[in-house]
Amino acid sequence: MSRKKSKASWWSPLASCFGRGDKVSQIRSKKLAMKQKSLQRLSFSDVSHSTGMLSPEDLSISLVGSNLYVFTLAELKVATQSFSTSNFIGEGGFGPVYKGFVDDKVKPGLKAQSVAVKLLDLEGVQGHMEWQAEVIFLGQLRHPHLVKLIGYCYEEEHRLLVYEFMARGSLENHLFKRFFAPLPWLTRLKIAVGAAKGLVFLHEAEKPVIYRDFKASNILLDSDYKAKLSDFGLAKDGPEGDDTHVSTRVMGTQGYAAPEYIMTGHLTAKSDVYSFGVVLLELLTGRRSVDKSRPSREQNLVEWARPCLNDARKLNRIMDPSLEGQYSTKGALKAAAVAYQCLSQNPKSRPHMSTIVEILEPILEMDDIPTGPFVYTVSAENGNEEGSGKTKATENGQHHHGHRHKRRSPRSGSRSETLSRDVGNGLHRNSPRHLRESRAQITTKELCCK
Ligand SMILES: Nc1ncnc2c1ncn2[C@@H]1O[C@H](COP(=O)(O)OP(=O)(O)OP(=O)(O)O)[C@@H](O)[C@H]1O
Ligand SMILES: [Mg+2]
Repeated sequence: MSRKKSKASWWSPLASCFGRGDKVSQIRSKKLAMKQKSLQRLSFSDVSHSTGMLSPEDLSISLVGSNLYVFTLAELKVATQSFSTSNFIGEGGFGPVYKGFVDDKVKPGLKAQSVAVKLLDLEGVQGHMEWQAEVIFLGQLRHPHLVKLIGYCYEEEHRLLVYEFMARGSLENHLFKRFFAPLPWLTRLKIAVGAAKGLVFLHEAEKPVIYRDFKASNILLDSDYKAKLSDFGLAKDGPEGDDTHVSTRVMGTQGYAAPEYIMTGHLTAKSDVYSFGVVLLELLTGRRSVDKSRPSREQNLVEWARPCLNDARKLNRIMDPSLEGQYSTKGALKAAAVAYQCLSQNPKSRPHMSTIVEILEPILEMDDIPTGPFVYTVSAENGNEEGSGKTKATENGQHHHGHRHKRRSPRSGSRSETLSRDVGNGLHRNSPRHLRESRAQITTKELCCK
């Protein structure tokens, strides 16, 4: 079933239900605003109505304490040079992302800074709901390891998000894309620890949040390789009271989603722990969670790597060759053991994220890292650092922020595939239009058999 509808056909009826005229919704929003002033985070259900869709007015009233800026489309056009191709950063499931610049000329009090503007390619209410979830969750959650949402634009059919600009883009790019220098061991660990701290914050909040879409492309890196989680469109409030899980439609990304979640739709914080284990494996091996271009028994990273994770003699077989052996063997063993536990079939056997941080952080101090010679040459004539035969220096490439600048061999593998299934109702398409064709709809059976 195509979700694509004309702007008017999806917007108008809902606008008439939830627009300015809806007194009930306005009273409700004001109540929510009061609740928010009491510094309690609003859950998604607190904010959402029966169909969950808020009008621009209701959304801004609900989020009154969150310091989010509400931009106009015209302001964001100026910020991004009319969404010019030279400002284009990349494109994910929801639409293109552009670099921009804002300052207090755009909004009084706004710090002068680079921003990333995500333009949602809306195709229906579900697209709006994920956009709204992102605004509601990220608008209220602030932590050094979560990307900062600066504001949004909600004008007619337009939905945009304005984030702090993350200078080094996504972990996915650094691990898997050509022309990026291989990440050194300590940088990989620093990223794993940072992302894990982001999950600890979510899981241990007064009102816990399950992130549900932990994957390499959603881990963004600042200029110092500090990792921050982005994309809260699939985030869910954790179970309340005596409940052990929340029941949801199964959504996430193939290769990262926990097996019991795919089978039952029961979502717990341990589903995020499984996904963390997959990303940790990607960091250790330099391989994608699913890579259809590899021989069949190597396509599913977890299945391929699992037998080697708890075996000191086998571990080096799966470590990323581009590390060239320059990692702490003790540290790699510990990290692999963590990954093994995270990837346990039984969610109860998986560690809590705080335990994972406690184990991974000390590995940053382990200095049994072999230093390999890195040879480069200096021109005898002009002193340029390339071109003639004089050997000059060595470098171990293990500084947190240092990289050995060499071109890496092209890594294959297409984007991960988004999965979406109504529990008990078979498959349900929910991915945006431009990824729709390329992202396979996958059944539980297919996932389990890989
Ligand atoms: N705040 C940001 N700063 C810098 N670059 C960003 C920022 N947010 C996103 N990007 C970049 O924009 C591109 C698209 O990101 P987006 O989150 O839309 O998609 P994705 O994570 O690749 O895929 P998915 O839809 O599965 O989440 C990525 O290359 C990402 O690195
Ligand atoms: Mg993303």
